[in-house]
Amino acid sequence: MSDPLRAWHGLAGTCVLLDGFHALKHALRFGAEVPVAVTADRAAALALADALAPDVRDTLDALLTEVGRAAYASLVPRPHPTEVAALAVRPAREAGLARLARTPRTAPVVVLDNPRNLGNAGAVIRLAAGFGATGVVTTGTLDPWHPAVVRGGAGLHFATAVERLAVGDLPAGPLYALDPEGEDIRGTKLPDGALLAFGSERSGLSPELRARADHLVALPMRPQVSSYNLATSVAMTLYHWSLGAPHAV
Ligand SMILES: C[S@@+](CC[C@H](N)C(=O)[O-])C[C@H]1O[C@@H](n2cnc3c(N)ncnc32)[C@H](O)[C@@H]1O
Repeated sequence: MSDPLRAWHGLAGTCVLLDGFHALKHALRFGAEVPVAVTADRAAALALADALAPDVRDTLDALLTEVGRAAYASLVPRPHPTEVAALAVRPAREAGLARLARTPRTAPVVVLDNPRNLGNAGAVIRLAAGFGATGVVTTGTLDPWHPAVVRGGAGLHFATAVERLAVGDLPAGPLYALDPEGEDIRGTKLPDGALLAFGSERSGLSPELRARADHLVALPMRPQVSSYNLATSVAMTLYHWSLGAPHAV
């Protein structure tokens, strides 16, 4: 690329920032369109690819342009230890919504009801990608494509569908809402077509989400412990789904 910094500044407003080697590696593996990628140390980045991601090594070799350390640092909120950054085209919302709406599903959709913490949302997207979930839907004001969420998701937004929707517009399917007051999840088989909904870190499930829920299910928890962290609750629930789904990863 003739002038990567110029290209970067032209695209930064509309593209998704991939911050670090691992985010770029994951995005490429899952088909992201990456128009510009820079590094402050090309030899080190390609050595990382040789060691950790030989499958995308040639793509990275063609894509990565070395820029000065100061120029690299000027492009990112805080320099990443791998000194790699890239911009990816955000998938069209229509495509994400179509993926979420398609039935029958082979894996659940995770719904985060008004999440507040960007790192939690990113961790949940990483979990959804790892378990092969159909997608992650957030309700409320948090942008699930916020740079801090993409950072927390390690570039795995491109491995699943990620959209924000109102509770009234959630995809079809039986909704299992996770709540400590629900029925023990160990007696429940979660269907592949389920929506698995989790409440906000601050206030739990909203009244709208509760009204849409078909089942309330609880994760085992000792008395006097109030609740688990949001992302760990999603991890346990997806793991529980995977145990009953022979085709799950
Ligand atoms: C940090 S908790 C919310 C705590 C919040 N203060 C409340 O009043 O519910 C975030 C979400 O994780 C899920 N969660 C946490 N612990 C759970 C448990 N033992 N059983 C089922 N869901 C749980 C629920 O969906 C909950 O809304």
